[in-house]
Amino acid sequence: MEKINIAVFVSGGGTNLQALIDAQKQNILVSGSIKLVISSKSEAYAMERAKRASIPAVYVPASDEEALLKLLKEYNIGLIVLAGYLSILSEYFVDRYRDRIINIHPSLIPSFCGKGFYGLYVHEAALNYGVKVTGATVHYVNKEVDGGQIISQKAVYIRESDTPESLQKRVMEEAEWEILPAATESVCRRLRLIER
Ligand code: GRF
Repeated sequence: MEKINIAVFVSGGGTNLQALIDAQKQNILVSGSIKLVISSKSEAYAMERAKRASIPAVYVPASDEEALLKLLKEYNIGLIVLAGYLSILSEYFVDRYRDRIINIHPSLIPSFCGKGFYGLYVHEAALNYGVKVTGATVHYVNKEVDGGQIISQKAVYIRESDTPESLQKRVMEEAEWEILPAATESVCRRLRLIER
């Protein structure tokens, strides 16, 4: 059975992309194959990670959705993984890939999510609120920001000494890098069954 062709959308450092690349090497991600990396920032370090893994990496400004759609078609992409992609995709775009776009968010949705909750702001908000547990969520993408169906979550305990930076690091290490590859594999497996 053919694997699902995956495109990973990035804007930054790409540690989640790296976790996906590593999962592919370690045979944790086997039902899909990363065929393309698209960056909304020309200087994103994630592009370097893609090139090192011999995966084509293309810079496409987020405003150029027609170019995005053209590339996705060219590479016959069946699943889009948003891994630190900082732009919001239009309803038109999301409709074209219904149930075929997933995102990783660094909190336990529905806490600390939605518009404006990205990067360190998420962890700052969790610390300011005083929650004792946070974590990460992988969810399907629909037209509501961070509003699609939840696929997977993992909790991370907050420490008294945490800063937004230390919490961001731990949420990545303890939750994001584990649940994103696992959720990507389970979604690819489901898509393969549908396509059979
Ligand atoms: C991660 O915290 C992810 O949850 C969020 O953006 C960050 C991306 O980090 N959506 P990286 O580029 O994968 O290192």
